[in-house]
Amino acid sequence: MTTRIRAAILVACLATLAGACADSASARLEADNPIRPVAAAPFGMEGFVASAGATADPARVRLGRWLFYDTRLSADRTVSCATCHRPDYAFSEPTPIAIGVGGARGKRRTPSLINLAGRTVLTPADDPGPMFFWDGRATSLEAQVVMPIADRAEMALDHADMVARLADIPGYRPYFTQTFGTADVTTARVASALADYVRTRVSGNAPFDRGAYGGDGRALSLSAQRGRDLFAFKGRCALCHAGPNFSDGRFYNVGIGWNAATQQFADVGRMAVSHLPRDHGAFKVPGLRDVARRPPYMHDGSIPTLREVVNLYNRGGIPNPWLSQRLGPLGLSETEVNDLVAFLQSLSGEGYEDRAPTLFPK
Ligand code: HEC
Ligand code: HEC
Repeated sequence: MTTRIRAAILVACLATLAGACADSASARLEADNPIRPVAAAPFGMEGFVASAGATADPARVRLGRWLFYDTRLSADRTVSCATCHRPDYAFSEPTPIAIGVGGARGKRRTPSLINLAGRTVLTPADDPGPMFFWDGRATSLEAQVVMPIADRAEMALDHADMVARLADIPGYRPYFTQTFGTADVTTARVASALADYVRTRVSGNAPFDRGAYGGDGRALSLSAQRGRDLFAFKGRCALCHAGPNFSDGRFYNVGIGWNAATQQFADVGRMAVSHLPRDHGAFKVPGLRDVARRPPYMHDGSIPTLREVVNLYNRGGIPNPWLSQRLGPLGLSETEVNDLVAFLQSLSGEGYEDRAPTLFPK
């Protein structure tokens, strides 16, 4: 190489040095959170995810992943979605009641976010549509995901302030442009990105799937195999915990939160939304995938172990005037209780795992 060419290259490099620095910063940022093709649904969940008809977009998922873990979406910049929905606990958390900005106490337990991409529709003619939250008050994932941002007991940041704050972060602009065509930050765009990130948290290929449908005779212990039959028949669990995600997406009263002394529910649940007396104390049936990874249980986190959950059903639920007629004493033996617990443990799968990105747009 001649000296003259070398000098020319040097001048060119110096001219672009500022740009090059910025380029390498954004290259690091993107390498830390790359656009990934949306993974196929894990074994056992293919039909469930496909039936929802909503396909996640890879650029939206990447943007949504930053937003999900970004504490700047809360009033005091300390709380992100992942503060409560922790990846290591199947996007739930090991505390009974969620704590938000400034230690504000919510009134319910943080539910898992896995397998919200699809839902089980048992009777298409009588399909109530998708419903989110323990009481089903949000009817789409897009509507749901931005509600915690403004909730005083969660992130406590009004949507207008959230939009202004994100618009002030230049590092986010290229990714809003890439995803939506322009750099404008809107609540609907934030919702769309967060919803697509949540949609891709799908758990399947559990020992249950491999044993029941994959022909792997050793995937399920004998105890779990007996538990599977108890779940479907004698235990009556599958009446409500139906379909590939073990929820029919409807609302039932199993008596959780009933105060026998005051004859009242601490939380009336679905009734506050539907205004139907029969929904008194009724809550959405939680899916049971990865349930062993996310105690404590129920909408108020009042039951610490799976064994205690099964014992509760064995007694027929907690008596109260609105108890679901589907419940009643089951007469399960000690071994049968163990078998049901072993079955519930066989529902821990894979495909939804994640961790927080280490770098965020600045
Ligand atoms: C302070 C803890 C906390 C934070 C922060 C939080 N959530 Fe939640 N999340 C909850 C609780 C508690 C519920 C259940 C509330 C209810 O049912 O009334 C919930 C419910 C949900 C649901 C409904 C799940 C279902 O099965 O219906 C989704 C989806 C969700 N959150 C997504 C998010 C997203 C996205 C963020 C960030 C923008 C977020 N959450 C921030 C605690 C939190
Ligand atoms: C009448 C419908 C119904 C039947 C039958 C039923 N469940 Fe449930 N299950 C629910 C509802 C509703 C909840 C949430 C209740 C609440 O939080 O108030 C729930 C909660 C659970 C939970 C806690 C999950 C979590 O994320 O907190 C487990 C575990 C569970 N059920 C297992 C079972 C088993 C095992 C059986 C059979 C022995 C069974 N269920 C029978 C409706 C039912």
